[in-house]
Amino acid sequence: MPDTTPAELLAQLTDAEKVSLTAGADSWTTSAVERLGIPAVRLGDGPHGVRKPHDGSGMSMFASHPATCFPTAAALGSSWDPALVRRVGEALGREAAGHGIAVLLGPGVNLKRTPVGGRNFEYFSEDPHLSARMGAAWVSGVQSTGIGASLKHFAANNTEQRRYGIDAVVDERALRELYLASFESVVIEERPATVMAAYNQLNGSHCTENGRLLNEVLRGEWGFEGLVVSDWGAAWDRTLSIPAGNDLAMPGLGVRDDRYVLDALRAGTLSREALDASVERILALVERHADAATAPVDPPDLDAHHRLAREASAAGTVLLKNDDETLPLRPGSRVAVIGAFASDPRFQGAGSSHVVPTRVDTLLSSLTSMLGPDAVTSAPGYDLTHHESTPAQLAEAQAAARAADVAVVVIGLPEVFETEGVDRTHLRLPDSHDRLVEAVAAVNPNTVVVLQNGSPAELPWRQKVPAIVEGYLGGQASGSAMAEVLLGEAEPGGRLAETFPRTYAAHPVSRLPNGPATAEYRESLYVGYRYFDSVGAEVAFPFGHGLSYTSFVWSDVAVAVSPGGDEVSVQLVVTNTGSRAGSDVVQVYVHDVESSVFRPEQELRGFAKVSLEPGADTRVSIRLPRRAFSYWNTVSQGWVLEPGLFEIRVGRSSRDILWQGGVELSGDAAEPLRHDEPAAYRIPSQALGFPAADFERLLGRPLPPNVAALPGSYTLDTAVRDMQQTVAGRLLQRYLARQAVKTIGAPASAPVDAVAGEVVAQLTFRMFPTVSEAAVGRRGALRLLALVNRLARLRRRRPR
Ligand code: BGC
Repeated sequence: MPDTTPAELLAQLTDAEKVSLTAGADSWTTSAVERLGIPAVRLGDGPHGVRKPHDGSGMSMFASHPATCFPTAAALGSSWDPALVRRVGEALGREAAGHGIAVLLGPGVNLKRTPVGGRNFEYFSEDPHLSARMGAAWVSGVQSTGIGASLKHFAANNTEQRRYGIDAVVDERALRELYLASFESVVIEERPATVMAAYNQLNGSHCTENGRLLNEVLRGEWGFEGLVVSDWGAAWDRTLSIPAGNDLAMPGLGVRDDRYVLDALRAGTLSREALDASVERILALVERHADAATAPVDPPDLDAHHRLAREASAAGTVLLKNDDETLPLRPGSRVAVIGAFASDPRFQGAGSSHVVPTRVDTLLSSLTSMLGPDAVTSAPGYDLTHHESTPAQLAEAQAAARAADVAVVVIGLPEVFETEGVDRTHLRLPDSHDRLVEAVAAVNPNTVVVLQNGSPAELPWRQKVPAIVEGYLGGQASGSAMAEVLLGEAEPGGRLAETFPRTYAAHPVSRLPNGPATAEYRESLYVGYRYFDSVGAEVAFPFGHGLSYTSFVWSDVAVAVSPGGDEVSVQLVVTNTGSRAGSDVVQVYVHDVESSVFRPEQELRGFAKVSLEPGADTRVSIRLPRRAFSYWNTVSQGWVLEPGLFEIRVGRSSRDILWQGGVELSGDAAEPLRHDEPAAYRIPSQALGFPAADFERLLGRPLPPNVAALPGSYTLDTAVRDMQQTVAGRLLQRYLARQAVKTIGAPASAPVDAVAGEVVAQLTFRMFPTVSEAAVGRRGALRLLALVNRLARLRRRRPR
């Protein structure tokens, strides 16, 4: 980069050069301007490892350079350990630099609004405070190495169904208090180099074209000075996205694609001011990060990174159940390891975050080398393609279990059940996995279930086994980490960062409309435990839950209000009273006792994780700022702290509160104006749900129509799945599915084909230039859309 400021460089650029800078040069790099010595910088996925595709491998998910596959965000989120996540971030930054990547595309801090979300494995939590703390730690670690982060997917990107066109209809309080809050403190405190604008629409406008979101909230209110990059293919029309604040459209679609932008600039429909502002931000990013990615770096210590991946995996492993101290395994136990995932594990999610690992530890080989081959037997229990069990496989599993002291059954969610690009439709595990647990538990009472999955599942057999360990998708070292946890060499450090509902039907979002045009966030603030705790519903495992191998006692709990009367500090002493080293997570929830607006029963506002040797103690101090007690007032458009009584609840999960006490806060003096509040939100009820009419009142505007486009009237936002009444739509889906399997380079099988069909069914014509790697341009996509509509109309007119 020449020794010139971005502002000086801007003055030397031609219009064509400026426009070229606002889109990538290809799938992964920004555009260079050689004449002025402006280099290109490379962006790359993220978030749990570096994915640098081999040159010429296009959009293949599998042809990339090996990199350490750290635990996914689902597992990192469960660690409740920002210091550890920061170290993972540093390691990711070092590997990114080694691959010449200037901006790593992560972290994902969207909330897990529903447990069926196909990308939940890439997100930290259902709670914005926990999610933001983890996201901030990740950004801080990565950026400490000189590599930029990309906070994604901004905002309300909570479903994969029709993900390119769906309109998330969210009321303002839920948006501010939950969905935006998960990004806000990360932006303000850590200043990520970039924020990635999401595919979906938010309250009627695509995030990449949403000036309210990008210019007013992100930049205006939060003071974000970095660059906004579109999610890949999310910026359809740069003449709309640039003025809205989306600076860079990725990926690039070639120079021909610049023409319509240049025309708009000349015609005055794209303002020069907006273009210059975006270009200056792109130049600033290049200036700041070009050298970091090209300067010679020491090769990363991949052994050390593997060890860190193992430590992080154990720290995110949640011991859900451990009756009669079944775990850790007693020395000298004979162990039957059952389940094909034990030797061919699922340890990361499917989709754009897929990493080619540097190595993979399996649970079976790790246990065998730690216990000795004579102590370990194994049986696959099910096949890995169809996830079915033959009677012979079940009999073999039972025989192995009978002959052992302990049976460890390894099951979970296969990739064809859970992937980026499509949501699940239920929370069940494969039937064969459930049946395997039942069969093994029937012959060996010491059955330990180990789960490999990116998000909650129904566990119908959970009362029939004494121990359940949630390993999530724990990265390339998850096998050895799990072996260490089972043997007690490492402790299960994780606590759930999300609720495990008893069934999907018990989850409020399962009963709310998702598509064809909108996703109605009718539950408003009642997301995750905020719902279950408010309606008093039973859950399988609550938010924050996780057992330890040791025991802790909390004492001297004290709560103090700041002299100004608007901040609180919580102090306590944590003592490890057991005989092993271990960690404990102190969670602080706030319950608003006297509120003039509806509030969830309680909300997590602070936490601390402590690790202690046996007998040791430590003083923990958790500060709750003013914001921990405030709500978003939709009339004054600001945060309001109502004076009055708040209850501070300190516990080990949202359902295991060990201490509670009241504090009186003086708060804001003025009586705030209030928005209309329908009864369904004051006293939410499981039976009633959240009726449309109430949500409409909360929203303060009529609900946008949620109907499918008629054949012949498809738009750029109609998903291919909603074109299936027409022959053209059906042919299109079949063609796209075949292409997708080829493009991503997945090994073909009937289940893979089926899931590829589901993934491409979410596509809209907006995405065609991107998925065709510019073979079909914008004009081509519009022509194709017109053709499909014409064919559909012809067919409608023709008598049957
Ligand atoms: C994903 C992003 C990812 C990008 C680049 C998109 O489809 O939504 O998370 O960073 O692709 O691979």
